[in-house]
Formats: sequence, structure tokens, C-alpha cells
Amino acid sequence: MRVLGIETSCDETGVAIYDSEQGLLADTLYSQVKMHAEYGGVVPELASRDHVRRLLPLIRECFSQANLPLGDVDAVAYTAGPGLIGALMVGASTGRAMALAWDKPAIGVHHMEGHLLAPMLEETPPEFPFVALLVSGGHTQLVRVDGIGEYQLLGESLDDAAGEAFDKAAKMLGLDYPGGPEVARLAQQGTPGRFKFPRPMTDRPGVDFSFSGLKTFTLNTANAHRDENGKLDQQTIADIAYAFEEAVVETLAIKCRRALQQTGMKQLVIAGGVSANRHLRERLETMVGKERAKLFYARPEFCTDNGAMIAFAGCQRLMAGQQSDLTILAKPRWPMDTLEAIR
Ligand code: KG4
Ligand code: ZN
Repeated sequence: MRVLGIETSCDETGVAIYDSEQGLLADTLYSQVKMHAEYGGVVPELASRDHVRRLLPLIRECFSQANLPLGDVDAVAYTAGPGLIGALMVGASTGRAMALAWDKPAIGVHHMEGHLLAPMLEETPPEFPFVALLVSGGHTQLVRVDGIGEYQLLGESLDDAAGEAFDKAAKMLGLDYPGGPEVARLAQQGTPGRFKFPRPMTDRPGVDFSFSGLKTFTLNTANAHRDENGKLDQQTIADIAYAFEEAVVETLAIKCRRALQQTGMKQLVIAGGVSANRHLRERLETMVGKERAKLFYARPEFCTDNGAMIAFAGCQRLMAGQQSDLTILAKPRWPMDTLEAIR
């Protein structure tokens, strides 16, 4: 089965074509990051309008990349939520309309299920069951995954998501949006040990997270080191970035280890934008080694938002006979454990 996948839930327009026999045939992306950077974060109305501008040209480009006539797919998958409602509506209405025009089925895909399954696009995919750490701009969750749609939430962030904390810490340090990659880049020049940040909620049992305290800690540390003009020197910025990243990475690693021990599972999948973080990958590789477990993640461009993960996830559900009706489905909030299982 060949599926066109459309992702427009936030600030990236992603379109891809996935074929269950031949794999990924085309993958295109337009990132709005530069447009939003000026405002220090995503401006929802601007995001929706830009998806309108970019989506149709990207769909055309995708078919030409795959060497296929326009519309030569068996079905269309689009992100139906969670995300920004206006942005979602662009992908949902376009995807739904194309499927109708081409007389093909369509399916609304859960954005986080897309992230979760993205590592399955790689050469050595994980096999069910496994534990997944979902770390994006909007979510930080540990999930037990027994199959597609069989998700049991083990723990989640009680406040900010990990990616959101990266973005906010970056802003406090005067870095550009999105902050995650910027903090990670600067952390490489940081001095280990100059600052020590807390590891929130690691001193009590369970696998829930809290990242808002790290934000305050970042702000206080930064304020204590500003010069008379309110500026921070480059080395101090790098040292704070290092301490912040180290605290997030270690906290995530501690909770992942607990989740593996608690479930007895030997496979850990990490997905979502923050799973692109090199330091996190290295730390988790060491941890799973000690646990005699294995770590799985997607290539960096499939950790952040993309169309390929939506085409792939949609394809799995469509092959199992699922599809959405003619209603244009867009849900800004959509708990992942309410999804239907496929057998
Ligand atoms: O999955 P994603 O592209 O979008 C959402 O679904 O939210 O995740 C975006 C988030 C942003 O907060 C961004 O700062 C973070 O992922 N991120 C990173 C890195 N790359 C992206 N955080 C830390 N290190 C990175 N290398
Ligand atoms: Zn995402």
C-alpha cells in the first residue's frame, strides 16, 4: 500500500510518500522556523497561513520526487492532532479533500503516534513490546507499547515538556528559537562542574517528570551572573547550557531506567524532537548497556516533525482496515491512550 502523509500540526509542513513494499519513496519538508524566530516562538496564525502557502507545492514536489503521477497513491494520511487547531485544519482539510477527489480512503493520524513509530523507518527497527520515551516540544511521556494503538502511559510531565523547557531556557540565555538545538550546540563548549542543576523528582519513586523548576533555576543562575548592562558572557552562557542539558539528560535517563526495570522490558525507543539530542542518546546508550537492553531512535530529521512518520503510521492503520470518514478530523487535544488498537 502506498500512502501520502501530511504533517502540519505546528511549524513544519511535512509531506512524504511511504510504500509498505518499497519503503519511503519521497520526503519533503518546509520549516517555518525562521519566520517564528523573529517572535521568539510559534505564532499560530502565521503558522496556519504559511501551511496554506507551502502545502500544495510540497505535495507536487513529493510526487515528482517519487516519480509518480499526481495522485498515484492508495490512501492519504494527515495529522489530525494534537497540535495548533488552525495549523491542523490546513493539513486535515487538504488531505481529506485530495482523498475525496482521488476517490481513495483517508486517515487522521495522531501526531505522537507518528513520532513513536518513526524509529521503525530505520534499518533495525524495534519490535513490540517496548518502552518508549516521547520527548517533544509539547509532550514528555513514558509509555509501554505492546502494539500499534496499545499504549499504557507509565508517567508524564506534570508541567513543562522537556523540549519546552529547552526552548524557555534558551530564551532566558538570549538564544534563538527553537532553543533545543542552540542549547545543545553551546553546551559542547560548557565547563563541566561550574554549575550544578537539580534532577527534579528523581528522589521519589515513579516515572513522572517536572521541568518547570529547571527553568527557574536557569533564570536565577543567569541573573546572578549578569554584568551591569544585564549581559551574560559567552562562557557563562555555555556553562549554564551545559548544566541545564546535563540535568535534563540525567533526569530522563534515571526515569527511563526505572521504566525498563518496572516493566521488565529490554527495548527502549526514544522519539520526538528532543530525541535528536546527542548527549541524551549517548547517556541512554550507556544506561541500556548496563540494563542489557537496546536503544532505538530515528535519524535526526525524523525525530523532529516530518511527513514520513505520518505516512508510515497512517499506512499501518490503513493496512489494518481503518480509515476516517468524510468529517474533517482535527483535535488540538487527543490523549494517546484513547487510540484504537490494531491486531
Ligand atoms: O517533535 P518536535 O519537532 O515538535 C513537537 O511535536 O513538539 O519537537 C520540537 C522540540 C523543540 O522544543 C526543540 O527545541 C526540541 O524539540 N529539540 C531539541 C533538539 N532538537 C530539537 N532539544 C534538545 N536537543 C536537540 N538537539
Ligand atoms: Zn512533533
